Amino acid sequence: MIDIHKITRQAILDIKEYVPGKPIEEVKRELGLEDVIKLSSNENPLGPSPMALQAMIDEIKENVHYYPEPQSPLLVEKLARIFQLKPNQFFVNNGVDGVLSMIAMAFIESGDEVVTSQYSFFSYQSVTSRMAGKMILVPQTQDRRFNIDGIIAALTPKTKIVFLCNPNNPTGTITYRDEFERLLAAVPENCLLISDEAYYEYVDHPDYPQTIPYLKDHSNLIITRTFSKVMGLAGVRVGYAIAHESIIRILQKVADAFPVNRVAQAGALAGLDDREFIDRSVRTAKQGRDQLYQGLSKMGLAATPSHTNFILVDLGIPAGPVYEAMLAQGVIVRPLGPQGLPTCLRITVGTPDQNERALAALERALQVRVGG
Ligand SMILES: Cc1ncc(COP(=O)(O)O)c(C=O)c1O
Repeated sequence: MIDIHKITRQAILDIKEYVPGKPIEEVKRELGLEDVIKLSSNENPLGPSPMALQAMIDEIKENVHYYPEPQSPLLVEKLARIFQLKPNQFFVNNGVDGVLSMIAMAFIESGDEVVTSQYSFFSYQSVTSRMAGKMILVPQTQDRRFNIDGIIAALTPKTKIVFLCNPNNPTGTITYRDEFERLLAAVPENCLLISDEAYYEYVDHPDYPQTIPYLKDHSNLIITRTFSKVMGLAGVRVGYAIAHESIIRILQKVADAFPVNRVAQAGALAGLDDREFIDRSVRTAKQGRDQLYQGLSKMGLAATPSHTNFILVDLGIPAGPVYEAMLAQGVIVRPLGPQGLPTCLRITVGTPDQNERALAALERALQVRVGG
């Protein structure tokens, strides 16, 4: 019998398990429910961009028996045109998750320090621990934001990467331009600053930093964006990094042979032209956020003001049983106990009907709890 502990790298044995949003299929099977809505992984409730969908269908019909182009050149060229950068400044991969893995694989040596905030995107911790890096989590501000001064104070000669999640998942809050500039100025040349902007399109705050212009003078800055959220393509997995060409060359060295499938490349390429859908997705998130805030306030609950397509609500009581009671009503949300916020739920903004249903399910779950 194999002694799995003996042959597995210690860094892998040490990884804390990630608890993803429960898939709809699993909840239907386990609870015997037919009508289930998923508001737990910040996906787009409108579905995919129709233009992306048509392009994906065409690609399947015509080309799915061919391997894809390894580095998504059409997509890269289009992104370069849109952002007025050079194509060699883009790295497309299997979602931003894939991009983060490649960054970790390329740059984190055993014992390197990696700094981010407490209560941020869990993948930063998993990709770091996989490479035996040492994760430093800096406490957040009172208003659940990245504490930029705390992060600057945590930098040491051993820091290899700083992960900034802006907007931040799971709090929905943002880092402002002046804070971003302070951080960028403080991060040493040979330390990477990753600005993960998975929810970029949803933000309309005037002090949210537009980070692309900073690339010119900061070759240690990496910006990540995704097609999973506003474009509705989470299921096909495509995201990208924008950075100095020397960084992109290294990421390409560690990438798999065919990291982004054909269907995803075609969908992303077409989706970039679907302005109408992107605008509608953003509008849906904003209106839905207001709907959720209002419904919560009627229950005496307040959400953290969000700049994204999800909200964080602190129930003030253990959120696990409330999550379970909502699940039993066919509404999947995300309990944040595994992330150290045991009284909080994260709820993805859905369609108006889905939001209504989530609010009703939450109200019932709370009543049952209080009543019981
Ligand atoms: C902050 C953040 N970064 C990255 C990702 C992963 O995005 P992708 O679907 O492109 O892998 C997510 C997904 O939820 C996210 O919230």
